Amino acid sequence: MLQALRFDGDALRAIDQTALPFEERQLVLHSADEVADAIRRLAIRGAPLIGVAAAYGVALDAPDGIEAACETLRSTRPTAVNLARAVDRVRAAADPVAEARAIEAEEIANSDAIAAHGADLLRDARRILTHCNTGALAAPGRGTALAVIAELFSRGGLQGVIATESRPLLQGARLTVWELRRLGIPHELVVDSAAAGLIASGTVDAVVVGCDRVAANGDVANKVGTYGLALAAQAAEMPFVVAGPTSTIDPDCPSGASIVIEERSADEVRRDFALPDTPCRNPAFDVTPAALVTALVTEQGVRRPGREPVRA
Ligand code: MRU
Repeated sequence: MLQALRFDGDALRAIDQTALPFEERQLVLHSADEVADAIRRLAIRGAPLIGVAAAYGVALDAPDGIEAACETLRSTRPTAVNLARAVDRVRAAADPVAEARAIEAEEIANSDAIAAHGADLLRDARRILTHCNTGALAAPGRGTALAVIAELFSRGGLQGVIATESRPLLQGARLTVWELRRLGIPHELVVDSAAAGLIASGTVDAVVVGCDRVAANGDVANKVGTYGLALAAQAAEMPFVVAGPTSTIDPDCPSGASIVIEERSADEVRRDFALPDTPCRNPAFDVTPAALVTALVTEQGVRRPGREPVRA
């Protein structure tokens, strides 16, 4: 099975996600600073995976450099709550390495449970649309939304997946397609702006995405573009399902309005298409109100965020 991270006691080995799909390259990271840099560059990415990577990053600098390591890693990416939570856990632990390994083991178990609950819920879906990358590259084990998709396929009902490119960094085009191909799941790639029309025309039966932070009221922060997919799904009366572990639920965050949305570099938007001085906005995430979420699938089962409070 694909393993995005591997800790060998002295170093954290990670698949370099910036090189995919054209090159399968491994990073060997020896310090919290090196792990932080990989997280910042999105060489390691996805909410549960950056939590585990940060946990190992803290462990690499413990005990002497633990405070500085926590601070550096915490500042890398603000939106996914998994990261800060994992850093705090390792910081408070008597044995940082054992704690980091425990967090990783929990997330692997979570992904199996999410896959099973999600596949039970979506057992009748034949075609699914998904956004960004939520597979084994984004979360230890099988992933989140993509784990549900893979489980549905292995049970025999799923016929195909539509993956959005997920501008601006194209995690869907580069990473989700790479994972779907490895899994042998039939798929088609679409530009982000094609998604709403395909949902409206009934080309898919459900939209399934991951999450980076879920507020106590059930509002969901996820990769930018998710909110538009949720609106399209609601208009089409199609299930809009969010999958993620309870480590992504933030009970201290009352609603989506208090989730910090990471703003990334303008160059990611301009790429090679726009003039170099074009002013840009680059929010990496958006917030989908709980009322638009048909179901939240965690390792504990299925919740209906629009109708009941969400607890970690
Ligand atoms: O900015 P990224 O690539 O780290 O984005 C995070 C994500 O992959 C998602 O938004 C995802 O849905 C949640 S992580 C399984």
